[in-house]
Amino acid sequence: MNIVTVNTPGGSYPIHIAAGRLDALAHSIPGNATAIVVVSNTTISSLYGERVRQALASTAKPLVFIDLPDGEAYKTWDTLNLIFDRLLGHQLDRKAVLVALGGGVVGDICGFAAACYMRGVRFVQVPTTLLAQVDSSVGGKTAINHPLGKNMIGAFYQPLAVEIDTDVLASLPAREISAGLAEVIKYGMIADATFFAWCEENVDALRALAPQAIHHAIKRSCEIKAQVVSQDERESGVRAILNFGHTFGHAIESGLGYGQWLHGEAVGCGMVLAAELSAQVHGLDRTIVARVRALVKAIGCPTQAPDLGAQRWLDLMRVDKKTEGRVFRFVLLPELGRAQVDVVPDAQLETILARISVGQGV
Ligand code: NAD
Ligand code: GLY
Repeated sequence: MNIVTVNTPGGSYPIHIAAGRLDALAHSIPGNATAIVVVSNTTISSLYGERVRQALASTAKPLVFIDLPDGEAYKTWDTLNLIFDRLLGHQLDRKAVLVALGGGVVGDICGFAAACYMRGVRFVQVPTTLLAQVDSSVGGKTAINHPLGKNMIGAFYQPLAVEIDTDVLASLPAREISAGLAEVIKYGMIADATFFAWCEENVDALRALAPQAIHHAIKRSCEIKAQVVSQDERESGVRAILNFGHTFGHAIESGLGYGQWLHGEAVGCGMVLAAELSAQVHGLDRTIVARVRALVKAIGCPTQAPDLGAQRWLDLMRVDKKTEGRVFRFVLLPELGRAQVDVVPDAQLETILARISVGQGV
């Protein structure tokens, strides 16, 4: 097993990474917990619910399962309230511990429920998608969506621990693996050129979930995320670099309609665009841009940006949380393995957007 530690003012906690870790879940439940509430969804619960029930039985604590409907469409106030209804219905006190068993949707909503219930109860993240294992379960961002914006209602709230079982990835659809790998290769681009090169060499093993390769990729991703989050829990500075590719990616998701492209697919394509923009603004070597594009393609994500129309692209990207006033701010790469946030003039963006609209393959 590997252990990565996250140190933040909101709490320090371990990320445990191991095959079969689900069976050891009882270790992450504090002795003074009065009850354990496993929040999951119908898909994941039918695959792993019974195993988790057995793993937690040794704690001899009251166990409640809450199965939410599956999908981003349910990351809402109504679903959050459903969790509160059950917690209050069972008269659970402040020493109850929540367990988020699922992908990023379950993790974000369960984390937010934990932050709010009785002004805060403890919770454990048990991420079951690759994206959740390398990104959303680490760092304490929790949220639900509002009809007017994704992840707009939420809190920074750190878990007690993150328990990663690499075996559960075996039941994930291939498209979800590709989407998770987009976030993995992102860490190489923004913080570790050697890791990027390792991903290039091991891309087939990663897509096939070869145990050693996937374990290393998750560990290195968690190390980089933990290091960034430990420096800047609340994203007042360096944490923004974790959003490399996301400004373009969010525009794709919302421009095409949520659910058309997976979040990781949109981020993959967004990273190609952000690398192109880095070449324009910082003179990033064109061979690096080509390597970024080739690796995004090799992991199975789209590299051809959809033509949303230049004005619509600009309108969609202005909704980004990094935008200040009407000025665009992008995470860019001055070189492979180093990222920074830059103000980008509209004219620079329009050059790239014009190339998309004439189908030049950006
Ligand atoms: P998801 O949670 O919707 O999971 C994808 C699908 O895979 C779902 O249908 C789910 O039921 C299924 N699934 C999960 N684990 C499975 C398994 N082991 N086997 C078979 N099927 C399984 O999607 P996601 O990509 O994990 O997360 C996306 C969400 O994460 C978005 O809401 C996004 O906003 C959020 N997010 C949050 C952060 C953060 O820092 N908090 C970072 C990135 C993304
Ligand atoms: N996924 C970006 C962050 O956690 O900051």
